[in-house]
Amino acid sequence: MDYKQLAPFSPDFLWGASTSAYQVEGAWDADGKGRSVQDARINFPEGTTDYKVAADHYHRFEEDVELFAELGLRAYRFSVAWTRIIPDGDGEVNPEGVAFYHRLLDALLARGIEPVLTMYHFDLPQALQEKGGWSNRATVDAFARFAKVLFTEYAGKVRYWLTINEQNMMILHGAAIGTAGDSGDPQRELYQQNHHMMLAQAEAMQLCHELVPNGKIGPAPNISVVYPASAKPEDVLAAADYNAIRNWLYLDMACRGSYNPTAWAWMTEKGIAPEIADGDLEILASGRPDFLALNYYSTATVAAPLGTGSDVGAMGGDQQLAVGEEGVYRSVRNEHLPVNEFGWEIDPVGFRSTLREVYDRYRLPLMVTENGLGAFDTLEADGTVHDRYRIDYLDAHIEQMRIAVTDGVEMLGYCPWSAIDLISTHQGVRKRYGFIYVDRDEFDLKELKRYRKDSFFWYQQLIKANGSATRD
Ligand code: BG6
Repeated sequence: MDYKQLAPFSPDFLWGASTSAYQVEGAWDADGKGRSVQDARINFPEGTTDYKVAADHYHRFEEDVELFAELGLRAYRFSVAWTRIIPDGDGEVNPEGVAFYHRLLDALLARGIEPVLTMYHFDLPQALQEKGGWSNRATVDAFARFAKVLFTEYAGKVRYWLTINEQNMMILHGAAIGTAGDSGDPQRELYQQNHHMMLAQAEAMQLCHELVPNGKIGPAPNISVVYPASAKPEDVLAAADYNAIRNWLYLDMACRGSYNPTAWAWMTEKGIAPEIADGDLEILASGRPDFLALNYYSTATVAAPLGTGSDVGAMGGDQQLAVGEEGVYRSVRNEHLPVNEFGWEIDPVGFRSTLREVYDRYRLPLMVTENGLGAFDTLEADGTVHDRYRIDYLDAHIEQMRIAVTDGVEMLGYCPWSAIDLISTHQGVRKRYGFIYVDRDEFDLKELKRYRKDSFFWYQQLIKANGSATRD
């Protein structure tokens, strides 16, 4: 549908930007912090850095928050490192870790920036991992306890809470993002882990409603609609199946407290359905989100599977590159879409479709907690970074989000990835996303100096105009 005039963004729309603790903070063992699975990780692709120093935000957060304020951010989405708060995941609370996030929150609030706090972003405490990680049901209790500490400590400072970042990607692509553990996680184990994370999330949502007056909480999966490769009925069905496995399994559980029937049938058929203990269904039904956060980078396109033993169209496989599955769907390249330097298809219209679809299904306000373009940026001799490609990407997505608002989708905010350069999940620091350039290479830390990219000034203007500068 085309519109003669687009609806404006609400005056209190949360224009923000995002990061996650292990990708930006560094200081991996400072002030009592325990090791997370990301600190213990050894499977870095050749030539890419680990997370020990990252952007050194832990030591430079005041300078960074100052830059966020200059950028005009109304919200900052960040994650708390579980291992700073409870170093071994379920033992003593570390007061220095707790104090760090108080300082960060105070700095944000002093500048009128609304904190959006992710409780867990890919960095499970290694001590819990060694006890079985999410396969061990005790991790559900550890998460609930961690959640309680966060709610009690930060209730007065944080209104918007996110439970688990991209739970669906940890299940579908844990090997690429460093969360799969050593066992290689056969699928049955993965879907048991998934069940435990669902329980942990439901408990956290319930606790938030008890402990945080006016607190709002939601999940933060990576959601994108799946297109059928053609109008052939079998392709349409394959897309519906993959939509259920990739998207609705996670959101149905968060919002409706029950398993998506297609996803459940798929798990049963494959013999990977999780064991459900007495009382689980009640716990799952007891947690309800107040809003839905979602990360969006691209869409996926699939076709009907071919016969046994045939190509499933695997295209590598990470958060945005679907891997096909025999008997279910075949992953195909969408010839209508360009790709970025890392092979991810670029699809702003798919962003509008995704927002509409999610809102139609669940009727909860939406917050975009990631969207952005990873690219090889160049720092010029005069300290400028000309990242027109990032501006074009963001601008096209914001335009489609505005059309989605005109479609009737209730949007709370937009926090692109990322506020500042950080380390990507599996492609090092050279795959950059930030509005602020951090001067370091994979192994040469240089001075970690910050520079404003062209996208910084562009986003600053866009926020000032409440998102309408370039198109009214
Ligand atoms: C999301 C994650 O999957 O995508 C982020 O939540 C991640 O942690 C982002 O950095 C971009 O992916 P990548 O692999 O390019 O870092």
